[in-house]
Amino acid sequence: MSLLAVYDELGNLLELTRDYEEIKNRLASIGVVFERWQANKELDFSAGQEEVLSAYRDDVERIVKEFDFKSIDVVSLTPDHPKKEELRNMFLSEHTHSDFEVRFFVDGSGTFYLHPDDKVYVVLCEKGDFISVPANTRHWFDMGTQPFFKAIRFFSIPDGWVANFTGSDISTRIPSHDQIVRL
Ligand SMILES: [Fe+2]
Repeated sequence: MSLLAVYDELGNLLELTRDYEEIKNRLASIGVVFERWQANKELDFSAGQEEVLSAYRDDVERIVKEFDFKSIDVVSLTPDHPKKEELRNMFLSEHTHSDFEVRFFVDGSGTFYLHPDDKVYVVLCEKGDFISVPANTRHWFDMGTQPFFKAIRFFSIPDGWVANFTGSDISTRIPSHDQIVRL
């Protein structure tokens, strides 16, 4: 189940909620959009990009219009991927992007860590969750040691997803995705 856990910068847990409205409102207070979407049909994990986008057409069109996104794609990762560790490590350290980081979880899960102020907002995103991390917000993402997810990604500027690492080691002080799913 999706959750929001708020930690201080030393890794002490301050808040924990699994209530959708609470997660949405708490994240809105730091400029992060969090929504839950419903597919208009059942989707297999094997569903292709067109089928996925069609199942969420209304929400996808609304969001594309609202944020003026220029491109969308659908990515998926499973625990049998030979480069899963490399892929996990790519975004496991704190960084920023010049574009929004906007994801919708079609299946599986992943954890976003947002560090907009002196707290870290940990959002375990699961099937049906939409999250938008504002541009230039310090954050990282953990897909776990056994990554399993399918997500729609939205882009507004070319190369806006390139990570600018802050050099901070804060991500080592906050529980990993594998630990968060067991909370
Ligand atoms: Fe990122």
